[in-house]
Amino acid sequence: MTQVLVAYGTRYGSTREVACTVAATLGEQGMDTDVKQAREVRSLEGYDAVVLGTPLYMGALHKDVRALLEKNRVALEHTPFALFALGPIKADDGIDGSRAQLIEALAKLPVPTPAAKAVFVGAYDPTRLGFKDKMITALPASPLHGEVAHDDRDWQAIRAWARELVEPLTRAMAPAI
Ligand SMILES: Cc1cc2nc3c(=O)[nH]c(=O)nc-3n(C[C@H](O)[C@H](O)[C@H](O)COP(=O)(O)O)c2cc1C
Repeated sequence: MTQVLVAYGTRYGSTREVACTVAATLGEQGMDTDVKQAREVRSLEGYDAVVLGTPLYMGALHKDVRALLEKNRVALEHTPFALFALGPIKADDGIDGSRAQLIEALAKLPVPTPAAKAVFVGAYDPTRLGFKDKMITALPASPLHGEVAHDDRDWQAIRAWARELVEPLTRAMAPAI
């Protein structure tokens, strides 16, 4: 059975929930999945493919996902991986800006091109923010200033992407010699 690691970074949990849905959907497609926080991943050994999930914060990937990519860049040369990012806090914002942020952030990292990547609308709750994020969003110049809570995550789109992942991940796997 194909062993897939689904690893994620998160501050407030929305990316973890998406990672769990991606893993469950891959499981329905016959893949054996482990879901882990990116910072708990010691090695990619034993996995045939990897799916990484990250929120975007100030245009950057979550630090744990960045660290995982950097630490495992050699293994990722021969382990197919896909990556999803949670970006805009509401569907009305559209995902083009966040997609551009993801492409720019990935280009700065010394890692191979993912076999598939996607950006999904994330979730936002100003009452749950940590001190630093509260300070950032309190600035009148912040695009999140005055925003109310939203959760426009498109579970249908997320499941559809995960179903379609099987093909690019399997295609990118090294053939057994
Ligand atoms: C302080 C702050 C900065 C953010 N910056 C960005 C950003 O630059 N680009 C983006 O697309 N989304 C941004 N977001 C939205 C988050 O990526 C989104 O809320 C995501 O679902 C959070 O994931 P988490 O719950 O797993 O931490 C930001 C959110 C906060 C609170």
